[in-house]
Amino acid sequence: MKALIIVAGVTGNLALKKLIPAYYRLLKNHDLKIIGIGRRGLSKNKILSDSKDYITNFDKSLFAKLKNNFFYHKTDFYDDEGFKRLNALISEHARNYHQVIFHFATLPKHFVMLSKQIKKCGILKGFKQKKLVFEKPFGYDYKSAKQIDRTLKRIFKEEEIFRIDHYLGKELIENITVFRFTNTFLEPVWNNRYVDHVQIILSEDFGIEGRANFYEHFGALKDVVQNHMLQMLTLTTMEKPKSIVDVDCLKKEKLKILKNIKTTRDVVIGQYKGYRKEVKNKSSMTETFVALKLFIQNKRWKGVPFYFITGKKMKDKLTSIFVQFKQLDCDAVKKICDYGANYANIQIYPNGGFYMKMNAKQPNSSKIIPTKLSFCHSCIYGINTPEAYENLYNDMFNNKKTMFVSKEEIEEAWKIVERINIKKLNLEQYKPGTYPKSALTMIKKDNREWHLEVENVL
Ligand code: BG6
Repeated sequence: MKALIIVAGVTGNLALKKLIPAYYRLLKNHDLKIIGIGRRGLSKNKILSDSKDYITNFDKSLFAKLKNNFFYHKTDFYDDEGFKRLNALISEHARNYHQVIFHFATLPKHFVMLSKQIKKCGILKGFKQKKLVFEKPFGYDYKSAKQIDRTLKRIFKEEEIFRIDHYLGKELIENITVFRFTNTFLEPVWNNRYVDHVQIILSEDFGIEGRANFYEHFGALKDVVQNHMLQMLTLTTMEKPKSIVDVDCLKKEKLKILKNIKTTRDVVIGQYKGYRKEVKNKSSMTETFVALKLFIQNKRWKGVPFYFITGKKMKDKLTSIFVQFKQLDCDAVKKICDYGANYANIQIYPNGGFYMKMNAKQPNSSKIIPTKLSFCHSCIYGINTPEAYENLYNDMFNNKKTMFVSKEEIEEAWKIVERINIKKLNLEQYKPGTYPKSALTMIKKDNREWHLEVENVL
């Protein structure tokens, strides 16, 4: 595929960690020109070498290709002159490209102005195919998301807009629908009759990595619960869509889940010690940790609790979906009760794969021991292979929108997050490497426990 990619916010954390490494990999099979724009006076060499640390399987000649095809343009997003010069740069390097992708890797407060600037300066004129990619969080709340959409609607066509949630590009997340809907034995037990509870876990062992400006605007609830975690929930719980490769069918089922979510009072927020110093705000009330309980009010899931847990500076980086099944009545297995519950675990990171925890008999004994039925994606294909943004760009090149988020899903997700009114809650300080004690109390009172230990998939 041949495409010009323009990235607004190319000197930011997202571009360095994820976008540039994805362009590097995509260059293997595609003819791409990448123009990064940003306000800082940096050289392209500095940007690319900062990003090098995040590139896996480094190949010298591919990196040289990236250097050749990458350009940095310094401009303020609001500067007409800067945009005129950008136009000249585009003409010089990529006017004979038919497809252009403009990636808004910026705070949402720039989405509207930047869209207007694009239109006013005509920088995308002359391209046959235009794609506008908007990062999450899409807006700051329900109201601002609506406002952004109203402007976008006036400037672009809906089919040109791609609302990104990079979690949907992760192989293991794309696998959820396949896991659920192609394995006959799962469907009969994937409901409130057999599932005891579900945990959606997004824990990270690092802090905010210099993103004070971003993080102070959002906090954990808006940064990852509103998007990544609710998306994981919808895929895990939705009814089987008429087609799992049709964007409208998927959207319809995901929306039904979002509309039926019931929030509860079980919400804990926390902030890691040292955060206030890092963001240079002594009185910051931004949460870096959230644990909460939700219900889905439909026939399949009525009464099953869904627990979310996410935090920065926790013990491990672990992203997983843990589905615990109810234990059979002890009488049914000869009154032997010293066996654990079955569970399904879809582990997105670090050991990509999924497994079912089952029970088996230990040889020469009557003891029941846990065993696994597993698929280890990372053992076969490598960790994060392909990377999320690589997947999503390939989908965009092919006009495939199944793994992008719809405007309606975003709005519903904002409504849910707004119902969880964290302003009234106590913000518990926690030591890096631990999590707030109230989160433990919250789940313990339900006679359950968090599954935050990283397990091997095999
Ligand atoms: C981003 C959040 O969307 O996702 C970050 O803004 C978070 O705060 C990141 O660290 C996690 O992504 P991944 O792919 O590293 O799990």
